Amino acid sequence: MSAKEKIVVTGHLGFIASAFCQNFQDRYEITGIDFAGWGSMAENLAPAVRDVRCDIADAKGVHAALEEAQPKAIINFAAESHVDRSIDDDLGFWQSNVLGARNLGLEAIARKIRMVHVSTDEVYGDALETAEAWTEESPILPRNPYSVTKAAAELMLSSYQMTLGLDVVITRGANTIGPRQFPEKAVPKAVTCFLAGKPFPLFRTPARRMWTHVDDHVSGIEAALRKGTSGQVYNLAPEESSEAYTHDVIHKVREIVGQGEIEEVEDRKAYDLRYWMDASKAKRELGWTPQYDFERTVTSTVEWYLANRDWLKAANKVLSAAQ
Ligand SMILES: NC(=O)c1ccc[n+]([C@@H]2O[C@H](COP(=O)([O-])OP(=O)(O)OC[C@H]3O[C@@H](n4cnc5c(N)ncnc54)[C@H](O)[C@@H]3O)[C@@H](O)[C@H]2O)c1
Repeated sequence: MSAKEKIVVTGHLGFIASAFCQNFQDRYEITGIDFAGWGSMAENLAPAVRDVRCDIADAKGVHAALEEAQPKAIINFAAESHVDRSIDDDLGFWQSNVLGARNLGLEAIARKIRMVHVSTDEVYGDALETAEAWTEESPILPRNPYSVTKAAAELMLSSYQMTLGLDVVITRGANTIGPRQFPEKAVPKAVTCFLAGKPFPLFRTPARRMWTHVDDHVSGIEAALRKGTSGQVYNLAPEESSEAYTHDVIHKVREIVGQGEIEEVEDRKAYDLRYWMDASKAKRELGWTPQYDFERTVTSTVEWYLANRDWLKAANKVLSAAQ
């Protein structure tokens, strides 16, 4: 794609899409579509982005927004994304993650434009007993309602590619941290607890994750937009040296904050103990290279929350009001 082409980015008021907008607003003319739901913050709006409020599960609204924007591509980040909430009630997850993706896919087909669908390593299930890191050929075995909706959307869009000619590229990102992540998620929640002198509730069993900086994740998505082959899936994960136990990361967060208590709590049901991806295809075919090592990923993230306490306070206010 050439510079300043028009694209639509969904979920631009959330964590990962807002990083995409911040990093690529000079390269693309971006219209953001978000219904300002769970995980969103008005403060996350990147200055050059046209801000459209619309539910992607509403086909008419999506059609009107795309008519107005006339994009050359759609990147779908919008999703309900928290595993624990999906276990409590998954209806909104089906609406946003599957019906929303369907509406965008059908619009992309009608307009003959590319759709990049942002998915997750969680579709693979649990790698605890797996001998080798997952490749894009590994079976998908999602184990909680959130990851099931993400897998369902992938399969639906792939079927549209094979039957209706949808130009779709799917990315599966690893566990991502960085600025502007909603404080229901581990790292900003830990910073919040440690600063407030409240114990951070840590699942009892240590789980391994590949800790990816959000800037690396979004640069992989942008590379998939430009260079991805239609119908293909690309794993986006950092180097193996960025794999670490959640316990070690939370202890590191406490060390950087300089204070805090940790309290072990029961694991969530069907808690995946390892996500383990091989990203060599994305490196080879998209020319993507993650820039952050583990140390910089965690340290720079925690330092951002410490330097942006007003944002963290505002996000926690939104979170408490929504609970
Ligand atoms: N956070 C991670 O570690 C991670 C890793 C891999 C993949 N992903 C994927 O990346 C994407 C973004 O995740 P995130 O962590 O930034 O989530 P987030 O919860 O921070 O943001 C999601 C945004 O989508 C919007 N949204 C949700 N449903 C919508 C709807 N029906 N219509 C319009 N807007 C809607 C929300 O209002 C919010 O602004 C998701 O698709 C997620 O599955 C996340």
